[in-house]
Amino acid sequence: MGPANLLFLLLATATQLSVAQLLIHRTAKPSTVWINTAHSYGYYLDQVPVLTCYPQPQASSGFKPAITAGFLSLCVSDTCDVYLFAVFLVHVVDNSTRVADSPQVLWSANRNRPVREKATLEFSSDGNLVLRDADGSHVWSSNSSGRSVDGMVITEIGNLVLFDRRNATVWQSFDYPTDTMVPGQSLVEGMRLIASTSATNTTENQLYVTVLQDGLYAYVESTPPQLYFSYNSIISKVGNDPTKATFMNGSLSIVVRPDVNDSISLPAVKSTQYMRLDSDGHLRLYEWSTAGSTAVYDVMVINVCDYPTVCGEYGICSEGQCTCPLENGSSSTSFKLVDVRNPNLGCTPLIPISCREIQSHQLLTLTGVSYFDMNYKVVNATTEDDCKQACLKNCSCRAVIFRVGECVWLTKVFSLQSVQPGYSSAYLKVQLSPPISASTSNKKKILGATLGAIATTLALLLIAIILYLQRRRKYKEKGEEFYFDQLPGTPKRFSFENLNECTKGYSKKLGEGGFGSVFEGKIGEERVAVKRLEGARQGKKEFLAEVETIGSIEHINLVKLIGFCAEKSERLLVYEYMSRGSLDRWIYYRHNNAPLEWYTRYNIILDIAKGLCYLHEGCRRKIAHLDIKPQNILLDDNFNAKVADFGLCKLINRDQSKIMTVMRGTPGYLAPEWLTSRITEKVDVYSFGVVVMEIVCGRKNIDDSQPEENVQLINLLREKAQNSQLIDLIDKHSDDMISHQEEVIEMMKLAIWCLQNDSIQRPSMSTVIKVLEGVMSAETFEANSIMFVQDNPSTYSVPSQASILSGPR
Ligand SMILES: *[C@@H]1O[C@H](CO)[C@@H](O)[C@H](O)[C@H]1NC(C)=O
Ligand SMILES: *[C@@H]1O[C@H](CO)[C@@H](O)[C@H](O)[C@H]1NC(C)=O
Ligand SMILES: *[C@@H]1O[C@H](CO)[C@@H](O)[C@H](O)[C@H]1NC(C)=O
Ligand SMILES: *[C@@H]1O[C@H](CO)[C@@H](O)[C@H](O)[C@H]1NC(C)=O
Ligand SMILES: *[C@@H]1O[C@H](CO)[C@@H](O)[C@H](O)[C@H]1NC(C)=O
Ligand SMILES: *[C@@H]1O[C@H](CO)[C@@H](O)[C@H](O)[C@H]1NC(C)=O
Ligand SMILES: *[C@@H]1O[C@H](CO)[C@@H](O)[C@H](O)[C@H]1NC(C)=O
Ligand SMILES: *[C@@H]1O[C@H](CO)[C@@H](O)[C@H](O)[C@H]1NC(C)=O
Ligand SMILES: *[C@@H]1O[C@H](CO)[C@@H](O)[C@H](O)[C@H]1NC(C)=O
Repeated sequence: MGPANLLFLLLATATQLSVAQLLIHRTAKPSTVWINTAHSYGYYLDQVPVLTCYPQPQASSGFKPAITAGFLSLCVSDTCDVYLFAVFLVHVVDNSTRVADSPQVLWSANRNRPVREKATLEFSSDGNLVLRDADGSHVWSSNSSGRSVDGMVITEIGNLVLFDRRNATVWQSFDYPTDTMVPGQSLVEGMRLIASTSATNTTENQLYVTVLQDGLYAYVESTPPQLYFSYNSIISKVGNDPTKATFMNGSLSIVVRPDVNDSISLPAVKSTQYMRLDSDGHLRLYEWSTAGSTAVYDVMVINVCDYPTVCGEYGICSEGQCTCPLENGSSSTSFKLVDVRNPNLGCTPLIPISCREIQSHQLLTLTGVSYFDMNYKVVNATTEDDCKQACLKNCSCRAVIFRVGECVWLTKVFSLQSVQPGYSSAYLKVQLSPPISASTSNKKKILGATLGAIATTLALLLIAIILYLQRRRKYKEKGEEFYFDQLPGTPKRFSFENLNECTKGYSKKLGEGGFGSVFEGKIGEERVAVKRLEGARQGKKEFLAEVETIGSIEHINLVKLIGFCAEKSERLLVYEYMSRGSLDRWIYYRHNNAPLEWYTRYNIILDIAKGLCYLHEGCRRKIAHLDIKPQNILLDDNFNAKVADFGLCKLINRDQSKIMTVMRGTPGYLAPEWLTSRITEKVDVYSFGVVVMEIVCGRKNIDDSQPEENVQLINLLREKAQNSQLIDLIDKHSDDMISHQEEVIEMMKLAIWCLQNDSIQRPSMSTVIKVLEGVMSAETFEANSIMFVQDNPSTYSVPSQASILSGPR
């Protein structure tokens, strides 16, 4: 027994903990045995500290955070006997191991098998660290025997390390992560964080987060696993360095290769922090202090219904509420709640599916139901009927989801999600009659002829009912298919071949944006613009969701989406054709065009404002564009402007700003709050202000061809506004502009309002329209209280390729 343990026993016998002293080592030598001598004090905890480390300098007495390796009780009552050998965060009082509040486990040895009182941890002389339960049974081992281990240490960030004579690491807990990461820890390609069953049961469940070659992924285990979150790089990997996700104060940085950092930004936290994959599949950032542990951030910004177990198996999630599947228009149920008091635990079929009774399999139709993994197993079936037949033919198919011409096959059904009816339907396999087991057929024989007659009658009746139901269902489905095709506003699905033809093999390029190139095409007599997205890193499901959103938005000042194509990795969008191209061609004088007149510029600004206003305030859900710039404003023959490229479009719930995980947009047009990542539609108002300034000044916001002090238009605006010299900024190419100088200056004042540093101060787009239409006047602001933005492009280290149709949500 080592000295630490002896001292601990001394401590444990002392009644006044505050006076007890304990010398705690950060390092230990081989040939030490620790015994889990359960002693209950405090609420949860009894521990033999094996090693403890104080990450912060020990100046004052009182509560201090410490990282300890020892036995930790998982109990909430005195009578239970469940411990883990764990590395955990704890507050200690002075130098004793008295625990001040709930300890937080950072790592543990075989959490699938907790140990009891009198369990032992042996650091054997050959360098192996072995955990045995009270009965001597082997629970866990570091497998490091025979590797000249010289000692064990716990580092300041919580890594338990066995090292050799040359201080080289032989084994470390960071190589075997459980469900938690601490700042400084990396998840290396192939490693997983696996969630625990619950807060009190540490057994691993089926949800995990892993790092693969090109990024971070979250799955639910099944064969094969089903994906519910991804954050991957579109830049291809080179070299053999493993991809790493490193948790740091302020970010989760994913390094695919040394020169590419893609990071999920996290709030910077003052005190101790850790990140845990919780049992519900959420990856949460926690802040820990004497007041307890608080979740401060949800790392995967996805919809609550996109978590695979949010409503258990077969449960249908609608804004977080769970119900069991019920056929539309039918009152008979095929599913029941696993636990009536807790709908979140999911549903189970009333009659289990038996592969011996394949002829009595039926598909339960649920319209307006979708699934989180729409890339899962796509079957070659283009009609709803083929899709269903494919599933009925193979017993391992438990459900199919049919959506926008695509059939997805599930062998295990986790939580479903309710969506707008018409876009997606789910068909769940159900068993109509219970399988006839050997014992029931024996009973039947004994019961004999009397019952036999009744049974036959019942069977005939049943067949009649089935036939009737089948017929009714067929009839109903026909109706639905028709409905699906006719749904107004549904963008048309094109095949890749179709589009190849209509663009003549992508021969006429109209332009190039962050996400790919745009080509001219012709569908029938109609000219179209076909955008071919390059390296769209989102899944098909996100793409289709985006298409649905974009397709359902129609406004005279928004470029209309006509159709799309999603085949293999190809993602294409077909838009209406805009003959005069994008606004940047007309305002920077790069194409020898004549200067636009004031009235044309005014109309363009009003059109942009109306398009944005519709996005922000006119739709069922608030939509932020997030990448307003002249390249994304298109003009028709008559210089009517339309806002294009909802590529970066994000839905924002009304009355609630959304925290984004990826910064997006274009340097020069980015609002300052991108740096703090609380994003609302007001970022568009800021970008709109920049665009207004560019239109009336006839130059780019960041223009390197200007003398150094004039490079940034917005900073120049600030300076000129302070000195009441706004007139200097008016586009000198145009006499018409100069003759309308008063109106132009009013326009600049509106721009200043939009460029407020504080997003709350900026006007809404409907207010902007009122000002433009002369219904009200712009609020005026002190020039120095506004908008100064360090528009240093390196601050916004967004590679333009990182722009994607839509990022992980
Ligand atoms: C804690 O222990 C250190 C030595 O390990 C000692 O110097 C210090 O005085 C102790 N602090 C208190 C408050 O007992
Ligand atoms: C030690 O080896 C056993 C058996 O090979 C294995 O199951 C276990 O995961 C290993 N432990 C570690 C920490 O690698
Ligand atoms: C090993 O590391 C410890 C502490 O970091 C240091 O004191 C010791 O000198 C090192 N030993 C060798 C052989 O490098
Ligand atoms: C913990 O969860 C596992 C898996 O669900 C289960 O088998 C086990 O019985 C649970 N243990 C306790 C103590 O509840
Ligand atoms: C990239 O991430 C690493 C950590 O993995 C960090 O050390 C480095 O400073 C980052 N580079 C940039 C340019 O942000
Ligand atoms: C994290 O970073 C922020 C700002 O960069 C800083 O204020 C804070 O103290 C840091 N937290 C820790 C625990 O280092
Ligand atoms: C399904 O239910 C919705 C609303 O609950 C209803 O509008 C629709 O007509 C129903 N469809 C069928 C085919 O029963
Ligand atoms: C998909 O089905 C169609 C018609 O049923 C067939 O022509 C085509 O070859 C199939 N494709 C694949 C990849 O099996
Ligand atoms: C049924 O599907 C499974 C995999 O989903 C496949 O392995 C099996 O071959 C299929 N069976 C038949 C009869 O098609």
